[in-house]
Amino acid sequence: LLMEQFTGMDQLEKQLASLFSIERCLIVSGNSDEQGKVIGEFGELVDEALQRQLPDGRNIIAVMGGTTMAEVARHVSPLETAKRHNLFVPARGGIGEAVSIQANSVSALMAANAHGEHRALYVPEQLSEEAYHTLLKEPSIRSVLAMIKEANCVVHSIGRALHMAARRKMSEDEIIRLKQKNAVAESFGYFFDENGAIVHKVPRIGLSLEDIQKMPTVLAVAGGKSKVKAITAYMKNAPKQTWLITDEAAANEILKGI
Ligand code: F6P
Repeated sequence: LLMEQFTGMDQLEKQLASLFSIERCLIVSGNSDEQGKVIGEFGELVDEALQRQLPDGRNIIAVMGGTTMAEVARHVSPLETAKRHNLFVPARGGIGEAVSIQANSVSALMAANAHGEHRALYVPEQLSEEAYHTLLKEPSIRSVLAMIKEANCVVHSIGRALHMAARRKMSEDEIIRLKQKNAVAESFGYFFDENGAIVHKVPRIGLSLEDIQKMPTVLAVAGGKSKVKAITAYMKNAPKQTWLITDEAAANEILKGI
């Protein structure tokens, strides 16, 4: 029976990877909306993927924030070897999250668990255009930004557009515009409609979607029935080398919809 279950999941993983034209898909059984432990299992798969995918030499791993990523970070294990050294950086400057789920905190936790190094990116949330441009000239900020741009791996989640807009306290006007443009997904501070087209971009520093296109290792982690629309929309234009780590509930629902 166990073998059959494995084969069934294997089939599902292949179908989903081919649907999205991405390199790989890994599916955890269950539904992360209802079972918290499923997100812990995403974390274990991220850990395994990093162990296998990160080459020897110096790696720079860019990490996004969010509740999924915060839990994933708890499951990362030591990644350092005599030949492999890892530096973790937040993928983007603050985008309005609570401290414990900000990319800075999540990447710091991942670095600690991986026995790697960490650099934080200190950019406050509420800044005038002018102050923002002045900050960008700061050597300490410039050096972290340069590292982020050199990252060879990124780990991120995918969120529901309106949920993320509310959580990040975007203005009423912005939320109305997101609704008018039928935004359903958010990742990296970009909002996407059902076709995977970008409909809004939060002006913040760090990785851009363009940077991610050429990155050798891209791990996207998101599951639960509630995120089906978001996952489907974002994955339409995701970089081909992406590995999607999701759960059975989302996978079945996505495949039912085609
Ligand atoms: O902010 C980073 C991020 O990973 C986004 O890419 C995504 O939209 C969001 O977090 C998901 O948040 P959560 O894991 O809490 O659903």
